[in-house]
Amino acid sequence: MLIRSAKEDIKYVMFSREQIASRVREIGQILSEKFQGERPLMICVLRGAAFFFTDLCREMDCLMDMDFISASSYFNGTKSSGVVRLVKDSSIDMEGRHVVLVEDIIDSGLTLEYLVKLFATRNPKSITTVAMLDKEVDKPERFCVDYYGFKIPDEFVVGYGLDYADYYRNLPYIGVIKEECYQ
Ligand code: PRP
Repeated sequence: MLIRSAKEDIKYVMFSREQIASRVREIGQILSEKFQGERPLMICVLRGAAFFFTDLCREMDCLMDMDFISASSYFNGTKSSGVVRLVKDSSIDMEGRHVVLVEDIIDSGLTLEYLVKLFATRNPKSITTVAMLDKEVDKPERFCVDYYGFKIPDEFVVGYGLDYADYYRNLPYIGVIKEECYQ
């Protein structure tokens, strides 16, 4: 692992701060309309979705509850381990609620698939999934997210909550990390 500075380690910026803000505003408007007159339970899947979640909730003009859960499937590597662990569960009763699961990225789809299956057993009125990034992977049977910010190619991205070994979550943009950092 080779981590120096964002200036040295980021190959290029895929989405700027402004592009992200404008897309988050659009998704916020779509969800505001969808949940007009309702009070969705917005659930942030920590840690990656932290920035997207807080930005998205502030772009939504409806009543809501917010909760934070933590799931993990990547253990400091660049590939999914295939095993999802719910590190921190929600403490809010989901029965009869419109639940909105907010993720930073959908890659193999295992995390969202696992969470949707788990929360469906708690009798919510509906479950909506949202991810800032939807990685284009060649798996036709992969879980489909309901709303996404941007589709991206199969590149290793960091920033706006996304990390490499916990580095670079705090970048205000989404960028591609150089291969030499993780090879
Ligand atoms: C990342 C990301 C998603 C998941 C997506 O989480 O935040 O939760 O992987 O991958 P998948 O579609 O292949 O399941 P990670 O386990 O790295 O935890 P983090 O959010 O704390 O970085």
